[in-house]
Amino acid sequence: SPSDPDLVERARTAKAKLGDRVFVLGHHYQRDEVIQFADVTGDSFKLARDAAARPEAEYIVFCGVHFMAESADILTSDDQKVVLPDLAAGCSMADMATAEQVAECWDVLTEAGIAGQVVPVSYMNSSADIKAFTGRHGGTICTSSNAQRALEWAFEQGEKVLFLPDQHLGRNTAVRDLGMSLDDCVVYNPHKPNGGLTAEQLRSAKMILWRGHCSVHGRFSLDSVEDVRNRIPGVNVLVHPECKHEVVAAADYVGSTEYIIKTLDAAPAGSKWAIGTELNLVRRVANAHPDKEVVFLDRTVCFCSTMNRIDLPHLVWTLESLAEGTLVNRIRVDEETEHYAKLALERMLALP
Ligand code: 13P
Ligand code: SF4
Repeated sequence: SPSDPDLVERARTAKAKLGDRVFVLGHHYQRDEVIQFADVTGDSFKLARDAAARPEAEYIVFCGVHFMAESADILTSDDQKVVLPDLAAGCSMADMATAEQVAECWDVLTEAGIAGQVVPVSYMNSSADIKAFTGRHGGTICTSSNAQRALEWAFEQGEKVLFLPDQHLGRNTAVRDLGMSLDDCVVYNPHKPNGGLTAEQLRSAKMILWRGHCSVHGRFSLDSVEDVRNRIPGVNVLVHPECKHEVVAAADYVGSTEYIIKTLDAAPAGSKWAIGTELNLVRRVANAHPDKEVVFLDRTVCFCSTMNRIDLPHLVWTLESLAEGTLVNRIRVDEETEHYAKLALERMLALP
């Protein structure tokens, strides 16, 4: 839908007034009305890498969700202030692993006698506390664009991986990219005693997957893939690796949001695509390629509600407040958490 022209003008004016003092980052799942004001757009990896690209900017306005803003705070200098236009923009997947639950899990692994063999690998979509846990225990962060390299690195450091918090990305990467079998993976359920696993199961597993998932991608099913193949003969099915294993196994292409955009840019005119990811991105890709047929993988699945909380009114309020000298919605990670979380994030940034 077209943005309110008055709000567009206000955002433009406030951003111009701030000039080089503000740097606006936008994740690919953001609304069109917001993404038009981003200085850089990207997937989670690109945004983490580029967060520190403008050390002279006093404010980094992060149009995305809370864990992304935390990561930007960790990776930038102390005098740069990271701002999230709506503090309620969280991520249901990140909320599925709390620091207490993960500490308890580590105790379970210790009891089973395997903690010394386990390397934690945490998806970017996790709180700063979980990233700090990961750094403390010699592990790395990964995103959907480097999960394979992160897992390969981790298996050079130890025999087992504890993958947090997205079971699907963990399983898909282990099976699809590392050639492991489904039997090498077990699922640790933080709501059950001992994760719902016996010590024997933990000892024989290679991948210990945390029982978390993305509520948006979790809704695509094998039926979605079969239906679209019947409806559109010759369609290419392209999905995000946060989808369930059976969906990823049935797809033709799998990758991060940046990969999805690049794949469509490189696709020949007349080709047909069904995309399984968040709707703002699918719509934008469809609009950018009128010469190709681009459809949403499942017509009943929709937006990420927390990504969508960042809308033009929130962005206008944020930019106008900053332009008037009022710092709002700062995201700040405490020093100790930052220290260990940074170790884990820097291991990711250093992956080959
Ligand atoms: P990427 O942009 O890294 O593919 O991540 C998708 C996502 O779900 C972010 O929340
Ligand atoms: Fe979290 Fe899924 Fe939304 Fe990404 S799309 S922010 S993983 S709920």
